[in-house]
Amino acid sequence: MRLTKFIVLFVICTLAISIAMPAFAADGAATYKAKCAACHGPEGQGKVGPAVKGSTLTADQITDLLAKGNDAKKVPHKKAAVGLSAEDAKAVADYVKTLK
Ligand code: HEC
Repeated sequence: MRLTKFIVLFVICTLAISIAMPAFAADGAATYKAKCAACHGPEGQGKVGPAVKGSTLTADQITDLLAKGNDAKKVPHKKAAVGLSAEDAKAVADYVKTLK
């Protein structure tokens, strides 16, 4: 039966895609480790940059800072963070807010 084969294949593909999807979703913790920890410390305790844990900025303000940059800030945050999608910026900002 061709149709049965097609349906089975379709179901397998759908399942495979739905299982694989989270791998593509922005992972704030991984982004933080890769792009922020060198300056802000692995626990957000601060290093070259100031501590970000317990920051008074809201997640939205952090997202904005990363996505657009802020001329009033020092390097590297004068400019938008390089290689960070809007989604990554939001995910990493949410992650920063979980650091205590
Ligand atoms: C090259 C080092 C460096 C990297 C990489 C870096 N930062 Fe920063 N960050 C700084 C410095 C320096 C400041 C202080 C800027 C100022 O006050 O003008 C800062 C400030 C901040 C602030 C503001 C803190 C506050 O309470 O005012 C946040 C939030 C922040 N960084 C988050 C991040 C995130 C998230 C990443 C990763 C996407 C990141 N930074 C990557 C150096 C860095």
